[in-house]
Amino acid sequence: MSDQLDRIETASVDELRDLQLQRLRWSLRHAYDNVPFYRQKFDAAGVHPDDCRSLADLARFPHTTKQDLRDNYPYGMFAVPRERIARIHASSGTTGRPTVVGYTKGDLDTWADVMARSIRAAGGRPGHRVHVAYGYGLFTGGLGAHYGAERLGCSVIPVSGGMTERQVRLIVDFEPDIIMVTPSYMLTILDEFERQGLDPKGTSLKVGVFGAEPWTEDMRREVEDRLGMDAVDIYGLSEVIGPGVSQECVETKDGLHIWEDHFYPEVIDPSFGTVLPDGELGELVFTSLTKEAMPIIRYRTRDLTRLLPGTARTMRRMARVTGRSDDMMIVRGVNVFPTQIEELILRVPGLAPHYQCVLDRPGRLDELTVRVETRDEHVEGRDGLAAALRDLVKHNVGVSVRVEVVPPAGLERSIGKARRIVDNRPRGEPQGVD
Ligand code: DLL
Repeated sequence: MSDQLDRIETASVDELRDLQLQRLRWSLRHAYDNVPFYRQKFDAAGVHPDDCRSLADLARFPHTTKQDLRDNYPYGMFAVPRERIARIHASSGTTGRPTVVGYTKGDLDTWADVMARSIRAAGGRPGHRVHVAYGYGLFTGGLGAHYGAERLGCSVIPVSGGMTERQVRLIVDFEPDIIMVTPSYMLTILDEFERQGLDPKGTSLKVGVFGAEPWTEDMRREVEDRLGMDAVDIYGLSEVIGPGVSQECVETKDGLHIWEDHFYPEVIDPSFGTVLPDGELGELVFTSLTKEAMPIIRYRTRDLTRLLPGTARTMRRMARVTGRSDDMMIVRGVNVFPTQIEELILRVPGLAPHYQCVLDRPGRLDELTVRVETRDEHVEGRDGLAAALRDLVKHNVGVSVRVEVVPPAGLERSIGKARRIVDNRPRGEPQGVD
């Protein structure tokens, strides 16, 4: 693969829509013919793949949820015979059975192509060295990034997550151009640079490709300033393929271009399931257009975003995902996402963006405590910092929270996705609306 864009990235919108419709009809038919789950669901809803004559007709088909994947654990959603499955990945399954996904050789090829496209949009070029610090294993981050970087013609350094001291040594010694890692783990690596007395600005790194968890514009500024490089957003989910569903271009940094020739996006009203017009905020839904092993039809991601017109590419963009519906905390009737707290933490000089939101229910009402680290070990006036954040949250989000300021390295560090919410409320009760 070269540093030229794929032709479809700059094709006309009409050409893209024609291709999508043709592929969508194939995908619906493939799912219906080969996955009993889809056949039953379509039949029950009174729709048939032949009913899809325009892209808008997709709205007549039923949604698929994470629960559907769990109910069909492990292989019930596969549409090809077992011997055609070339790879299996799975989600971590911290909240129940893991969700299992499968790929044919053709799917792995498509995935490498869209990942290569993503890395190129991020500024990667053949010959660049790419340090992959996403975890390797059942998680799609490491291997997804790995094969995409290889496909683009980069030299891949497959470090995986963890062993932070070694991450720093390898960045210094191997001189990568690009790092692919979760934004929260990037911060941990950055802190380690400083702990070792090294200047992170002096590294060879030019671009960070950050995803797998929500992060904010303020976090982008923090990382770009401290590292002296560009930071761009990459999005994806295992159920759809893994990383490489959409990618922000380094030249515009204005949201993520969805690789719509493979993944058809819709945004729906999360309560009613109706399709919303482009531009409106809602839940992102994906339909795979080319996947063989596990076609996925109208999958509800639970990620909240808006669809925006294309800019640097023909494909539509999605706005940065600042939260998923699962991460929404309801504190005395007010909806709060951890990213809102992150934004405000970064406005208080002296506070570091290592934080956790702890939910308790001491009496009848939920309480939110923000635990956050200081930047400096010897900082005076922790109470002042706590008060500053408390006031910002009160004024900007509209809720009263407790703030507990802890010294640097006082909170657990993840080596992959950060755990932003610690829920200590009694189990089995509804989320805390009072
Ligand atoms: O996290 C795939 C991935 C790996 C994406 C590496 C990017 C980089 P899952 O483990 O299945 O797959 O988790 C998918 O993570 O539904 C979002 O809630 C969240 N997520 C992924 N990327 C972003 C992002 C991988 N850029 C779930 N911004 C998704 C916000 C993200 N949230």
